[in-house]
Amino acid sequence: MAEVACHQVCQARVRAICSVDKSRRGISGQRSRTRTVRTTPLPRYNVCMVRTLSGIQPTGNLHIGNYLGALVNWVKLQEEYDAYFCVVDMHALTQRPDPEVLRQAVRELAIGVLASGVDPERATLFVQSQVPQHAELAWVMMCLTPLGDLNRMTQFKDKSTQQPDNINAGLFTYPVLQTADIALYRPEAVPVGEDQDQHLELARETIRRFNFTYGGDVFPEPKTVKSLAPRVMGLDGESKMSKSKNNEIGLFETEAETWKKLKGAKTDPARERRSDPGTPEVCNIYSYHGFFSTDEQRAELAEGCRKATLGCVDCKKMLGTNMESVKGPIRERAADLRSKPGELDQILAAGAEKARRTAEETMVMVRDRIGLAGGK
Ligand code: TYM
Repeated sequence: MAEVACHQVCQARVRAICSVDKSRRGISGQRSRTRTVRTTPLPRYNVCMVRTLSGIQPTGNLHIGNYLGALVNWVKLQEEYDAYFCVVDMHALTQRPDPEVLRQAVRELAIGVLASGVDPERATLFVQSQVPQHAELAWVMMCLTPLGDLNRMTQFKDKSTQQPDNINAGLFTYPVLQTADIALYRPEAVPVGEDQDQHLELARETIRRFNFTYGGDVFPEPKTVKSLAPRVMGLDGESKMSKSKNNEIGLFETEAETWKKLKGAKTDPARERRSDPGTPEVCNIYSYHGFFSTDEQRAELAEGCRKATLGCVDCKKMLGTNMESVKGPIRERAADLRSKPGELDQILAAGAEKARRTAEETMVMVRDRIGLAGGK
């Protein structure tokens, strides 16, 4: 965004954020009750560029679903937004990971995010547990979240099935911590895949409830930003690609490792023999070509599939090669970052420091509005 345009947006946002419309209706449609409404102004420099925030869990390896569904957008948005990207290690605790495994997973994930193109000169990359305000705001948001809303979360139901021996309170309140992650940075845009829709809707509702209850627009209502691949299917072709479903293509996998998986992956069931014509649109492998292959290649594959002039193995080979041209350079950058652990430490320390500053600005305002100690 150009400097001048940014400044104008900034001024408009300051006015919008700081003005309290007394006749404003809340989410329940009622008029705001009479209460003393405080209007702590936002720090000016804080709104000079519109913000974006997103997070990713350090559980399992990054896969192409994460890359196409989220990371590609993070890299794009860092150009236009004041971007905050967070490795959400506190969320991972809901699965009770081994401490050493968690520590290592956080570093590997940060490496993966950087290798995918997130630039620490442009974006703030940090680890959630280095910013204690996440837990503080989560409690505030917890007190604003009806139990019934959490009961409706489908991810809680899925996770409870996946870990029946560890259905802990953190798993249930997970979306509230996510709401806090978002609200803390007052972003206008949150880039995520489709599986996060329900959590994002809950976050918006809670944010509206906060604004209504405590007066004024403390938090902007964040929009969900989707990439062109909001739901990448897994290799089983039956459910979304997921770390927990064992159906993923890892972002760091070598070409040979990926080929091993592609070789056995399902294609259009109509193509039992090479001479059987198929329908590319129903083939999961063809859907991956949509992300990695050129228009010409896709047209050639589609025709070859329909006329049975091209076999599934040829189709998979082309996919493997095209994927490698994206994954190879990412793997190389990751290897380079792994060889410089001090550099990663510095990036994460600088990110955490900036994130803590922004988070504290929000918390001063929040504490002030809700009557806790530590406000202005
Ligand atoms: P997580 O770690 O499961 O996934 C990280 C990001 O990858 C996207 N994603 C996918 N996109 C398309 N197709 C797929 N198969 C696929 N699998 C994963 C996810 O939608 C997500 O954008 N709860 C979040 C982490 C989180 C968060 C936040 C996100 C915590 N706090 C605040 C945004 C804002 C999660 O578990 O994502």
